[in-house]
Amino acid sequence: MYKAKVFITRRLPVELGQLEEVATVEVWTERQPPPYDVLSEKAKAIDGLLCLLTDKIDSQLMAAGNLKVISQVAVGYDNIDVAAASKRKIPVGHTPGVLTDATADFAWALLMAAARRVVEADKFTRAGLWRTWEPDLLLGPNITGATLGIVGFGRIGQAVARRAKGFDMQILYTSRYQWEAELEKSLGVEFVPFEQLLQESDFVTVHTPGADDTYHLFSDRQFNLMKPEAILINTARGTVVDPDALYRALVSGKIAAAAVDVTEPEPIPQDSPLLTLDNLIITPHIGSASRQTRSQMAKMAIANLIAGLKGDRLPYCVNPEIYV
Ligand code: DGY
Repeated sequence: MYKAKVFITRRLPVELGQLEEVATVEVWTERQPPPYDVLSEKAKAIDGLLCLLTDKIDSQLMAAGNLKVISQVAVGYDNIDVAAASKRKIPVGHTPGVLTDATADFAWALLMAAARRVVEADKFTRAGLWRTWEPDLLLGPNITGATLGIVGFGRIGQAVARRAKGFDMQILYTSRYQWEAELEKSLGVEFVPFEQLLQESDFVTVHTPGADDTYHLFSDRQFNLMKPEAILINTARGTVVDPDALYRALVSGKIAAAAVDVTEPEPIPQDSPLLTLDNLIITPHIGSASRQTRSQMAKMAIANLIAGLKGDRLPYCVNPEIYV
């Protein structure tokens, strides 16, 4: 009897037993992702692909073989040409929901760290510069009572709002549409236009998907509108923030600081001028990196993959229109 073939582009923190019952599984075990030509070659002979956001899955790769399902271990899928998949009736799976709290927690960690200069303070201490208690040493702004602007108000943006509520913040949000009054009331948030949010917020946190219409949403014009004491947090996608404009804004004092878990490109090149700045914290795209979350993401992606191999509807499908 035919056994489906599956390629997994990286080691995952879960047992593959259930998947191995229905498919022959090959796992790419190197630390770096498979190069595009290797992946394309693999795609020619597999039924199911389990991929990560570091893998470019384009129409050419899909055309090379006879993929029945593409399952991504992430909620975001800007590395996949979903339109091309839909054209070929290939379902694309992703992992929404399970990483909401871990990512919101991390956005909050970055906000706190940037405001209270935790990374700088650690470096300062290790450098032997802590000589005495000083009234003006490493000062930062208040978080409690400040104004937070949330750009993108899906699951993660809303989870950040819940955290901000505990800090008595005034919470503004902007998104493609205004949410219902009941939700706004329960979270204590106010919908405002993007420009107003930029002008009024002490902290701006980004939670939009990476897409054509969010590409470089933050560039010189937007930084010019922000308060000089404002702090930008990005745990969404690097492409949302123009890195050159961010550098200019941080160096010229258009904004006070930033903390980003995502960059354009990823990883950030070692010669990027951004790496020279003390008022910028950069982490390596670890927003969802709690042990429990990563294991749930992998399990969800496997469930999507198995469903696709069996010809069932994916439980978490990005392009459900293929089923109609
Ligand atoms: C996602 O899921 O899209 C995150 O960026 C990685 O966890």
